[in-house]
Amino acid sequence: MTGVINWNELWKVSHHNGFHHHGEDLADHWDRRAREFNRMVMRHKERAEAQVSSLGLSHEDTVLDIGAGTGRLAIPMARIAKSVTALDQSGGMLACLKENMDREGLSNIQIVQKSWQDLSPDSLPGHDVVLSSNSLGVSDLQEALSKMDGLAKKAVYIFTFADRKRDEGFHDFLGQKHHHHHHRASNLPPDYIIIYNLLAEMGILADVKIVEWEAQEHYSSLEEAVASWKEMHEILPEKEPQLREFLSQKLEKDDQGLCMHRRSKQARISWQKSLEGPA
Ligand SMILES: C[S@@+](CC[C@H](N)C(=O)[O-])C[C@H]1O[C@@H](n2cnc3c(N)ncnc32)[C@H](O)[C@@H]1O
Repeated sequence: MTGVINWNELWKVSHHNGFHHHGEDLADHWDRRAREFNRMVMRHKERAEAQVSSLGLSHEDTVLDIGAGTGRLAIPMARIAKSVTALDQSGGMLACLKENMDREGLSNIQIVQKSWQDLSPDSLPGHDVVLSSNSLGVSDLQEALSKMDGLAKKAVYIFTFADRKRDEGFHDFLGQKHHHHHHRASNLPPDYIIIYNLLAEMGILADVKIVEWEAQEHYSSLEEAVASWKEMHEILPEKEPQLREFLSQKLEKDDQGLCMHRRSKQARISWQKSLEGPA
């Protein structure tokens, strides 16, 4: 039954800019950014380690990582858990994951190249822990969440950004509507509010924890920072002068060259399945 607010429709409205990324398109988008993404996230190992240790995984656990990307979390999870199934629709991201996994000498990660919406639930066995971290590129959120719940034996964890600071104010700096594919309409609630409420409507009473994180991004030169931001944030070529101006204001000199201090809040939505058990 839908109440006054239809949360699943609100999700669609909130992400309609991103929907042309579905299917092939979303995979292409990540294929193009895979190398740069991998380079950036693998520099912030402490944050991934902290996220993983908050899950309380045991050596017996099997984990399903949806939208695993280049393995930022799958790699540290595989060091603890029995096995990790890393699902992603982007072959480019998974190629980086495979390299990272080989470099670490890990053999307990199974790679599945598939989009979550196209995966038939009976094609995978149940996993103790099901997780998604900034990777819910789906239009039907309810279907995606109920598939996650259905495949989880012990617990489900969803990480999403809780505030809008991901670009450190670059879009405000531009002072105009920007064509970022993942940019959301600003008068709509953040993802975690929608996810939490939709879950409640589905009879799942989840926990929400907000965690603040800080990171430093280092660049050897302004050129390198411009190139990286252009690629990661899909900045159009005509906006490059503004990007350069923005970065030269934001970057501070340090012993490694230039540094950008970034802060953001992340939401962790989770629920346990152990108490429910089969009827
Ligand atoms: C921002 S990256 C996050 C990667 C990783 N979870 C992390 O925390 O570093 C998003 C990843 O999710 C994948 N993704 C997004 N929506 C997906 C979907 N519906 N099915 C499968 N993969 C998806 C993308 O291909 C991309 O690799």
